[in-house]
Parts: sequence; structure tokens; C-alpha cells
Amino acid sequence: MDEALKILIVYHSETGNTKAFAEGISGKLTAIGNAVNSVQLKTKSSVKKAPVRQDQDIDFVNLPDPHDYDVILFGGPVWAFGPSPVIVEAIRKMDKLSGKICLPFVTMAFFLETMGGNAALRYMSRILADKGAKVLPGAICKHMLHKLDNEIEKNAAKIATAISL
Ligand SMILES: Cc1cc2nc3c(=O)[nH]c(=O)nc-3n(C[C@H](O)[C@H](O)[C@H](O)COP(=O)(O)O)c2cc1C
Repeated sequence: MDEALKILIVYHSETGNTKAFAEGISGKLTAIGNAVNSVQLKTKSSVKKAPVRQDQDIDFVNLPDPHDYDVILFGGPVWAFGPSPVIVEAIRKMDKLSGKICLPFVTMAFFLETMGGNAALRYMSRILADKGAKVLPGAICKHMLHKLDNEIEKNAAKIATAISL
């Protein structure tokens, strides 16, 4: 990579796993010379831990403006075999994603990606593509029967490579 990229990492995390993944990604991307800002989403009121298909109003205190960034990463936990409704609503509410390089990432408990991780990435990728984003393949960290730190290290490196190509 010849030039530093401006990268925004937007994520939802309730118990800290996705936050740890976001920090691992940020560390890796910063170490190779990019300018990274991270935003942990905060909502105006508490969110029901419900599947994404269940309607609920979610409003944000700190939804960032993606305008000045080259690349935007969206992260959240897997909930009920799908994506976090919080990160999905953030993508839906965010303007100016058309033409941006975007990449989804998730954390999950179970040991197989088929137990929600793949579905969550598919869902997030589809709504990003619907907004005109150029979507890169996403990444999943699992923490049951896996060491989360190792998963983060491996996947942060994978993301750094994907973005730098
Ligand atoms: C309501 C709820 C539903 C969940 N559903 C799943 C699931 O379907 N598959 C899975 O692997 N983990 C599931 N989990 C576990 C979380 O995805 C996992 O612990 C994640 O790392 C939490 O991220 P956080 O610490 O950033 O909030 C669920 C957790 C909650 C609270």
C-alpha cells in the first residue's frame, strides 16, 4: 500500500467481544500506516436482545458520518443466528455509503460459522451492497472452544490484507 487510508470502524458490542475484535483490527491497520477512527455505537434507549427481523426503534447518540473515509468497517455480535439489529440499523441510517469500500465483521459464541456468523455477514453485506457500497468479504471470530485473542489476531491480519490489496 503506497498511501495511508482513512478507515472508520463502527461497531456494536454489549459484552466486549466485538469491541476487542474492533481494537485488534484497529491496532493492525494502524501499525501498517493507516489512519483509523473507531466508534462504539451508543443508543438513545436500551435495545431488546431480539432477532433482526423483530421490529424495534433504534436511535443513536453517536452515529458517525462516513463521508471523509476511504474504508468503513461494520461490526457486531451474532444474535439469534443473524446480525445484531443495532449494527443493521446503523447501516440503514447511514448516508453516503455509495462507492465506499465496506467490510462487515462479527463475533459469535458457537464453534461453527454456520451457527449464525455466515448468515450475519451475508445479511450485513447485502444491505451494504443495496446502499451502493463495494463490499469486501467479512470476518468472523468465535469464542466457544476457541481462544478469542487468537481468532482476533488471525482475522485482523486477514482484514488488513483484504483492505490493502
Ligand atoms: C441475544 C443473544 C443471541 C445470541 N445468539 C447467538 C447465535 O445465534 N450464535 C452464536 O454463535 N452466538 C450467539 N450469541 C453470542 C454472541 O454472539 C457472542 O457472545 C458475541 O461475541 C457477543 O459480542 P459482544 O461481546 O460484542 O456483545 C448470542 C448472544 C446474545 C446476547
